[in-house]
Amino acid sequence: MIVCRTIQELKASLSELRTDRKSLGFVPTMGYLHEGHASLLRRAEEENDVTVLSIFVNPLQFGPNEDLDRYPRDEERDLAIAAECGTDIVFLPSVKEMYPKRPLTTVLVSGITSRLCGASRPGHFDGVGTVVSKLFHLVIPTRAYFGMKDAQQVAVIEQMVHDLNFEVEIVRCETVREPDGLALSSRNVYLSAEQREQAVRLSQSLQMAGDWLYAPGMTAGQLKRNIVSHITESELAEIDYAEFLTYPSLEPIDEQTSTATLEEQTIVALAVKFGTTRLIDNRLFDI
Ligand code: PAF
Repeated sequence: MIVCRTIQELKASLSELRTDRKSLGFVPTMGYLHEGHASLLRRAEEENDVTVLSIFVNPLQFGPNEDLDRYPRDEERDLAIAAECGTDIVFLPSVKEMYPKRPLTTVLVSGITSRLCGASRPGHFDGVGTVVSKLFHLVIPTRAYFGMKDAQQVAVIEQMVHDLNFEVEIVRCETVREPDGLALSSRNVYLSAEQREQAVRLSQSLQMAGDWLYAPGMTAGQLKRNIVSHITESELAEIDYAEFLTYPSLEPIDEQTSTATLEEQTIVALAVKFGTTRLIDNRLFDI
């Protein structure tokens, strides 16, 4: 496994490994890898000739009062996981390497970024769009692998790839969960034992939403109220949003709409704070 810390090293390694017709699978991450990331790496390794992992905690996608400084990092462990998953190249740039000067160009996907995490974290998706497009230009992947826990991020990146004609296939990968259902996230390490116990309510409510959705007389508004009420039975949970939208267009569904009449793919998307830790989770429904 080759570890590259500069763009020059990355380009040199890529040109050695990527001879004609070799497919390249790319897994962009912010590190502190868990089984969710490992599953993306294994899939990229299975489906491509060469696998590239990037580890970069991108300051552009963090707001001023967010967890950039305390975002968990463990380079040694990350490299061991990457090697175990058969990764060929790890790109581990510094902030200075990626942004020698404050960039004056940003990639802003409009519309679908105005809701959910885009509304709660202003500027977040401009940071994501900018860094992912830089990484795509540097790596030139055949396929890029993203976890569906960040379903809005996937919708934003798919839109960006379509609008800007990136020649990369975006591969949506299923969320990996703890045995009790909690979606794996690097931020789960922030949770206290009591918060961790109550955090399971997110995935429980998504499970239950699957039954509620098909209950006779169910409306979009009632579905949301059921979800909110299940989550707020935990006294430590503070809901940032609990939304029921179309996917991937992320259009709101009128509260009065009977769920039996829906014809497109929909998403229940959640962001819930436990103390200062904000967790997200979601479930897609093919009606
Ligand atoms: O999902 C993440 O870890 C990040 O948002 C990404 C895609 C690596 C961009 O920094």
